Parts: sequence; structure tokens; C-alpha cells
Amino acid sequence: MKLNNTTAQNSFKYGWLLSRIFPYIKPYMFRIILGFIIAVPFGLLDGVTAFALKPYMDYVIGAKTFEFDILNIHITITSIQMAVIIPFAVILFAVVQGVLRYLNGYLSTWTSQKITNDVKYDLFYRLIYMHPQFFDENSSGVIIQRYMGDPGTASAGIVEQLKTMTTSIFGALGLIGVMIYSSWKLAFIGVLVLCIAFVPVVLIRKRIKEASNRNMVIGGNITTNINETYSGNKVMAAYSLQERQYEYFKEQTHESFNVNMSLYKRSGWMSPLMYLIASFGIAIVLGYGTYLINSNQMTAGSFASFVTSLLLLYKPVKTLGNTLTGIQGIFVAMGRVFELFDLESEIKDCENPIELKGLNNGISFEHVDFEYIEGHKVIKDLTLYVKKNETLAIVGNSGGGKSTLVNLIPRFYDIKSGSIKIDDIDIRRYSLESLRHNISMVFQDNFLYTGTIKDNIMMGNPNASQEELEYAIKAAHLEEMIKELPDGIETMLGERGLTLSGGQRQRVAIARAMLRNAPIVILDEATSALDNESEAIVQKAMDNLMQNKTVFIIAHRLSTIKNADRIAVINEGELVELGTHEELINIKDGQYKVLYDVQFKKQEEMIPG
Ligand SMILES: Nc1ncnc2c1ncn2[C@@H]1O[C@H](COP(=O)(O)OP(=O)(O)O)[C@@H](O)[C@H]1O
Ligand SMILES: [Mg+2]
Repeated sequence: MKLNNTTAQNSFKYGWLLSRIFPYIKPYMFRIILGFIIAVPFGLLDGVTAFALKPYMDYVIGAKTFEFDILNIHITITSIQMAVIIPFAVILFAVVQGVLRYLNGYLSTWTSQKITNDVKYDLFYRLIYMHPQFFDENSSGVIIQRYMGDPGTASAGIVEQLKTMTTSIFGALGLIGVMIYSSWKLAFIGVLVLCIAFVPVVLIRKRIKEASNRNMVIGGNITTNINETYSGNKVMAAYSLQERQYEYFKEQTHESFNVNMSLYKRSGWMSPLMYLIASFGIAIVLGYGTYLINSNQMTAGSFASFVTSLLLLYKPVKTLGNTLTGIQGIFVAMGRVFELFDLESEIKDCENPIELKGLNNGISFEHVDFEYIEGHKVIKDLTLYVKKNETLAIVGNSGGGKSTLVNLIPRFYDIKSGSIKIDDIDIRRYSLESLRHNISMVFQDNFLYTGTIKDNIMMGNPNASQEELEYAIKAAHLEEMIKELPDGIETMLGERGLTLSGGQRQRVAIARAMLRNAPIVILDEATSALDNESEAIVQKAMDNLMQNKTVFIIAHRLSTIKNADRIAVINEGELVELGTHEELINIKDGQYKVLYDVQFKKQEEMIPG
């Protein structure tokens, strides 16, 4: 499921897309419709100025008196009065239009933000439950782009554009109304030319889709690049990779420039062409209009109104043109968004899952095969039984599959064939949540979230009591450290907080695991990245965590391995030896003995114990 490769195939299925977005729009329907209702008079008011020109020309400039009857009252307006009334009327209408514009803008911003948020909530919710392999395969940049960028474009855009479209349409209709009122013949020519001018818009849809997809991928690459610059800043400094990062950034940014330029080259002729067609229309109208005035079929005022309307019409029509191209982009974004909605986590609960409530007998691996990539087995026909409260050390060459093996227990990945059972029931029969709830894990590098030390520890069990928390801190040998901190356990970690040393981080992670108090404990090279001194204290913390638990421990330290009940040697995905230290060391030419000779013996000589 590589997201780069999905290219919004759905972006032309308009009906399907609208039916998918509709549930998000529905809750805000009332406000959206209200916005549209406001948009109608707001659009129509564009015609007022143009319309005002007719009486202005005919009565003010033509120095005529305007007379009419309302409810049997005869009203006379002199040309002087008219000269005052009309400009004021124009201003008054502008004020009304301004108020409507504000209300309309407020409503559409409000609804579009709300809809975007709802889409983002649902999308993010799906993201957090995706299986680990999904995160392995997709870079952070692509994920950020697709999960946070597209929804904004898709749902905010749809309301924005609909709003612009309605105001433009009604703006155009108002002006066309004035034109028809002035002269239907001229209006007919004007509208006909307008329709012709629109043809090119329809032709550029596909190009926009391609460019938008390319830009999405590039945007993702750039975000990944920034993420990597951030996370890898030390490696970058140490190996002088700044120029490399810079080159890549420039390359991608330039690529985006190229995409946009090629899009413009292929679609930029549209607007000038529309202008050209429109100028033909204006030329025809001017000629024909002069003829109509000279043959007394039209007043100069009507003509002025008409020409003003025609010129004013350009704006809403142009906006409509832009909206139509903009909407293409929105549909492309929507296509991508709903593609994500259809991605399902590959690791999920079976039907009617059972709750795992603690461990009674043991954990068994039966002929387990596993592969990350089709055809490349990483675990091969592995059979192993670990009974309750046993500590199993896992050793073997690097890349042999040790981490993979332990990651299969909480179902970070599902096995290809065979089965893993807890108390004789396949782990796929348990609910994921209960399965994982029964496992505490500590890795080589443990992620601590932005927040206080307490927050990070309490993640192990948010319902833990103060006593349990204090015990976990003590058992993880964190007491001393916390005492020395200015804010104690409430000290902030991460982004703008305290940075912990490797050993301190591990102990916070151990306290977290301790608080969870799960019957199964998995330790994957938890002390590997530490110096001897920190290792010793983390080791003590780990010993506390391991007490009375069923433990899988991947370690490189001989003392840890020796203390385990049994040792499993994993080589190239196969379980090659299994037994106690004494048993394995005595296998002639055994794998464990080789490991012992090259790795462990040295430790034994260097550090006693
Ligand atoms: N997420 C992954 N996607 C694809 N291959 C992986 C992934 N994680 C590990 N591997 C591969 O699986 C093999 C076993 O890796 P791992 O279990 O980490 O070994 P160990 O922990 O024994 O050093 C290695 O060849 C490694 O490249
Ligand atoms: Mg490993």
C-alpha cells in the first residue's frame, strides 16, 4: 500500500465523490443553504450599478423629468433630483452588498472549516489504527501531505467554490438581466459569444489532475526531507550532509516549479483565448449597438447600461472559469482523500474476538513462517514453546529475525503460515486491544511524547494509583533523577522541554512498562545503545520489570543471557539451538558457542560478572 503510487483514479467519478462527501456536508446543510440564499441578492446587486446608468444617462444627462404613478400618487423627479438620488442609491446598494458579502463569507468560512475538520478527524482516526507496515512503506512527508493537506483542499474547497460559483452565477444573471432589459438583441449576441469563450475550460481537466498528483508527490518528498533534516540533524552535521539535503530540497522544489510551468504552458493559453473571443463579442456589440441607436431602436442610456453590464460581466464569468478549473483540483484532492478512507488496516480483529485476560499456561509458536516482502522469508518454520513465567533470551546474528519474531507476538505483523498461540488459542482470535494490553514492550530506542515525565509514565496505565506510580518510579530507578529536576515528575519532556540521556529515557520507558504490569514482557536490545554505567542501572530496572513475568529478551550482554531460563539462537530466521547456557555452550561447533567465543567471552574477561 504505497501511497505514492495511488493516483486518485477516482477523481473523475463526480457522482461517487459527491455521495462520499455528502455525509460531511449534511450536518451543516442549513448554514450552507443560508449562505447560498445570501449569495443570490449579493450576486444580483452587481447589476445595480450598470442598471443605474440608464436613468442617469437618459434623465440627468438628457435633462428630462422622470414621472410615474404609485398608488394613485403622481411622482415627478427632476433631472437635478435624479442627479443626487442615483449616486446615493448606488452607495446604498454597495453598503447592502458589503453586509451581505461579509455574512456570506463568514458562513462559508465557518462551514468549510467545520467540514474540513470532520473529514480530518475521520481520516486521522483511520491513520492511527493502520498497521505498522503501512508506516514502514510510506514516508512521513507523504502521510502528512495526504492526511492533512488534501482534506483541506477537498472539503474547504468544495464550499468555497460553491459559494463563489453561486455568487458569480447570480452576478452574471443579474448583469445579463440588465442587458436583456436594455436590448435583447444585443444581449443575445453577448451571451452567445460568452458561451463560445467557455469551450476551452472544459478541455484542460485532465492536465490539471496530472499536475496536481505530481505536486502532491513532490510536496510529500519535501516534507520528508524536512523531517529527515530535523530527526537526522546530528548525522547530517557529523557527515557534512547539509549540501546533500540542500541539493535534494532544491531539486524537488525545482521539480515542482517545472510541473507548474508545464501546466501553465499547457493551460495558460486558455485565458488569452477567452479574452480574444470576448473582444470579438465586444466589437460586434459596439457596431450593432451604434446601428440600433442611430436607427432610434435604443436610447444612449440603455446602450451605456448594456456596455457597462457587458464589461462587468467579465468578472463573474472569469471567476466562474477559475472556479471550474479550481473544482477540478478539488475533485482530484477528494479522489485522493476517499482513497485513504478505503484503506483498511491489514491487522484487525476477527469476528467475535475473545478477550485475553492474563496468561495461564504459555505461548507457543507452531511452524511460523513470516515475510515482509513476498518471497523473502524472514522467519522460517519456527516452533517454540515458552511457558508461563519463563525468561527466554533470544540471540543470533544481526538481521537474523530476532526483532521480527518478538514483533509478531503483539501482532504488529501477521504471520504467513503456522500459528502463534497464547494459552492454546491463536492470537488472531483475541481482540487486538486485549492482546496488546497483556504485553509490555521496551525497545532499543523508546519514543517519549511531548509532555511531562508523569504523562509519559502514566501512558502505561492511565488508571494507575499514586502508590503504583511511585512503585514504578522506584523500580525503574528514576527516583534520584526526578528529585533533581526543577519540576520533579511534572518536568516537561520533548520539543521545548528537557532532553534525557539514553539511560534515563530507557528508565522512563521501563517505568511505563512497569505500570502496565502486563504478564508478557518483551525487551528488544533495551540496553544496547547505552554505556556501561547507564547499562548497569537500566539492567537493574529491567530485572525488576521481569520479575514473575513471561519474558522475551533480546540482549547482547552475557550476564543477562546466562540468567535466562533458556536461550534461543535464531539464525537467518531459523531456530537453530535452544537450551540453557550450559547446554548450548557444550554443543561442539554449535552456533551459540561461536557467538560466545566471538562476543561474550570478551565481555566476561573485561567486566567481571
Ligand atoms: N519493516 C521491515 N520491512 C521489511 N523488511 C524488514 C523490516 N524489518 C526488518 N526487515 C528485515 O527482516 C530481517 C530481520 O530483521 P530483524 O528482525 O530486525 O533482525 P534482528 O533483530 O535479528 O537484527 C532483516 O533482513 C531486515 O532487513
Ligand atoms: Mg533487532
